[in-house]
Amino acid sequence: MPSPRKPRSLRSCHNVDDLRALARRRLPGPIFHYIDGAADDEVTCRRNTAAFDDCDLVPDVLAGVAEVDMSVTVMGQKLAMPLFCSPTALQRLFHHEGERAVARAAEKFGTMFGVSSLSTVSLAEIGALTTTPKMFQFYFHKDRGLNDAMLARAQEAGFQVLALTVDTITGGNRERDLRTGFTSPPRLTLRSLLGFAARPAWTLNYLLREPFALAELQSHVREGSRVSISIGDYFATMLDQSLSWADAESLRAKWPGPFCLKGVMSVADARRAVGIGASAIMVSNHGGRQLDGSRAPFDQIAEIADAVGGRLDIVLDGGIRRGTHVLKALAAGASACSGGRMYLYALAAAGQRGVEHALGRMRSEIERGMKLMGVPRISALNRSMLRHR
Ligand code: LAC
Repeated sequence: MPSPRKPRSLRSCHNVDDLRALARRRLPGPIFHYIDGAADDEVTCRRNTAAFDDCDLVPDVLAGVAEVDMSVTVMGQKLAMPLFCSPTALQRLFHHEGERAVARAAEKFGTMFGVSSLSTVSLAEIGALTTTPKMFQFYFHKDRGLNDAMLARAQEAGFQVLALTVDTITGGNRERDLRTGFTSPPRLTLRSLLGFAARPAWTLNYLLREPFALAELQSHVREGSRVSISIGDYFATMLDQSLSWADAESLRAKWPGPFCLKGVMSVADARRAVGIGASAIMVSNHGGRQLDGSRAPFDQIAEIADAVGGRLDIVLDGGIRRGTHVLKALAAGASACSGGRMYLYALAAAGQRGVEHALGRMRSEIERGMKLMGVPRISALNRSMLRHR
C-alpha cells in the first residue's frame, strides 16, 4: 500500500515503494526514470510484480517456528537469505558510493551480489572489498579482446559466478530514456543542467567525487565513459548480435566456476542451458526493459522448474517487492530470487545505509512470512501451499 505520507528519510521507508519515492526526491529526473522505466508500454515490468497477486498462499499452522532457517545454496554458494542483488549497471550515477555500497551491504546480509560489465567500480576493487559470493555479469561484446580481458579480470578478482546475459541482443525501446535524453555519461544540455540544478546534493557528488567512467570498459571502448550513449544504443551497437548457443558453450568452457545464463524464459532454452553445462539460469525479462509483452518470471517459473528442476539452479529475477513474493517463487520451484530495482531505489535514496535498509526489510518480511506459513526452512515450501486464482 502506498504510505499515507511521502517518506522524507530512510526511517520512514517501510517498503520498496517508499524507497522509490525517496529515490525520486534525490535523483535528477532522467536518472530516476532510467532506473524506474522499462520498454514500450512497460506492461511486462508491471506484470512482473502483479503476477504474484494472482496466486494465494495457503499456510500451515502449529509447525514450531521459533527458529527459521532461510539459507539456501545456489550455484554452489551458501546464501544466508534466499534473495540476492542482481547485477545492475551505472551504480555511481545513482549514488556516489555505487557498487561499493551494494557489495558491503550484501556482505552484511551474507548474500550474493552481481557486478555488471557496465559497472562504475572495478572488479579488482570489489573483489578486494568483500569475501561474500560475487557474480560477474558478462555482456558479450563485438570486441573479443575486451571480452577476454573482462573474463580474466573477473577471475583474478575472485568472482565465483559468471552470468552471461542473453536477453540484450539489441536495445529495448525505453521511451522514458528517449524523452528525458538519458545517456551514459549524462550529456550536458540546457535541459539536463536544469535537472541537475534541482538536485544540488546529487550534482555536487557527481561533480566533485571521482570522475564517472565504466571501469571495466573504459580502456577498450570510449562509449559509455567518454562518449555519451543511451543504453539502448549501447546494446544495439556494441554487443555481438551473432551470439549463439555455441558461443555460450565456449564461454562456459572457459570459466572454471559456476556459470549462469541470465534472461532465459522458455522451457526449450532452459533445457539447452542444461545441455551446455550451465549451473543455473536466471528466469528474467531484464526487469521488463527489453522485450515488452514477454511473460513474467513468476508466471513462467513452474513450467521451467518442472522441466529442469534438480538439473540446474533456477533463480527467479524480476518483480520482487515483498518477502511473500520470494516465498511464492520458492514454493513454485525457484531455488532463489534476485532483484534489481528492489535495492537500486534504496541505493539512490541513501547509499550503503539504504541498501542495508532494503535488505533488512526484505529479510524480516521473509522471516515473518515463513513463520506465518509454518515453514521452518526453505525446503519445506512446496506447491501445495500455492493456489492460482
Ligand atoms: C539496463 C542494463 C544496462 O537494463 O542492464 O539498463
